Amino acid sequence: MIQQLSPAPVTVLGMGPMGRAIASAFLAAGHPTTVWNRTADKTNELLARGAVWAGSPLAALDAGELVIVCVIDANAVDAIFDRALAEPGRSRLPVTTLVNLTSDGPGRTRELAARADELGVLYLDGSIMTPAAAIGTEATRILYSGPVVLFDRHRHTLAALGGAAVHLGDDPGRAASFDIALLNLFWTSITGLMHSFALAARQNVPATALAPHAQQMAGLVADLLPGLAADIDAGRFSGTESASLTSVTASLGHIVHALEEAGVSPAVTQEAKNAVDAAVSAGHEGDSAARLAEFLGRGHTDRDPQAAG
Ligand SMILES: NC(=O)c1ccc[n+]([C@@H]2O[C@H](COP(=O)([O-])OP(=O)(O)OC[C@H]3O[C@@H](n4cnc5c(N)ncnc54)[C@H](OP(=O)(O)O)[C@@H]3O)[C@@H](O)[C@H]2O)c1
Repeated sequence: MIQQLSPAPVTVLGMGPMGRAIASAFLAAGHPTTVWNRTADKTNELLARGAVWAGSPLAALDAGELVIVCVIDANAVDAIFDRALAEPGRSRLPVTTLVNLTSDGPGRTRELAARADELGVLYLDGSIMTPAAAIGTEATRILYSGPVVLFDRHRHTLAALGGAAVHLGDDPGRAASFDIALLNLFWTSITGLMHSFALAARQNVPATALAPHAQQMAGLVADLLPGLAADIDAGRFSGTESASLTSVTASLGHIVHALEEAGVSPAVTQEAKNAVDAAVSAGHEGDSAARLAEFLGRGHTDRDPQAAG
């Protein structure tokens, strides 16, 4: 006879848009869900749907085997630990698995993991790659890192968040390393897109007229991405099959000029041009764009072409 396991109890700390979406997905999947937030009234809707109010950070951490924290940054997680430890007689926290779905940098995340370890908490890190509205749907994508044994123990419960859950390795900072690189891609792309809309608008081209062409251009970036990644990892930088950095810097120069002519700040594009110029000055003029990843990764900034080598 197949035994049906009842959904495991979970606790969620942090009731911003993401924390609420997480708690909501657990409730929808039938998990008994305890919640806590610094500002209590943000939990009202979830309490009306059957969630239980924890009362304090310590009670929340003590409420069950699996605790999720999703707050603004690692400092806020530290503040929650501090509040729990402020209760009389506490020098350690309850032994529980804490899945930290708060975004922060890899270094800060490792510090937090080390502190959690010292305090007796079993720590797994996670980076959410999708917006709050996607939580509980197939579109969810969450990257995890930390002890694989914790991931395996709780993956069935975490599946309530929907979509794909990918474990990247035992280093607790690894998911944050992916997260920060992907967020850099996302926000520099969005900034670049807004910059292009601004330039187009100054030339009486509405954003909606440019949009289908911009979409095609963004698709080109997505198409080029796997080949560039393979070239970077293999150390192949020849620009003879694609645009050389000499050609790229000329093109960026025309764009900077057009931006100035249109009265739009060229700062975003000028920064990109500075990086390419530094690589060209260092002798990489015949290389492809893949060289930039290697060049900037050596620690060169776009401001030190003299130091480049
Ligand atoms: N929203 C999204 O679509 C999305 C997508 C991917 C990843 N994320 C990540 O998910 C995390 C949470 O995001 P969010 O959108 O829910 O909202 P958020 O604005 O990033 O964080 C709000 C939450 O942090 C709490 N908080 C802030 N400072 C605190 C402190 N010192 N002590 C205790 N709690 C503190 C807030 O409590 P109060 O209510 O009391 O202020 C609230 O619960 C972030 O790291 C974010 O980068 C969000």
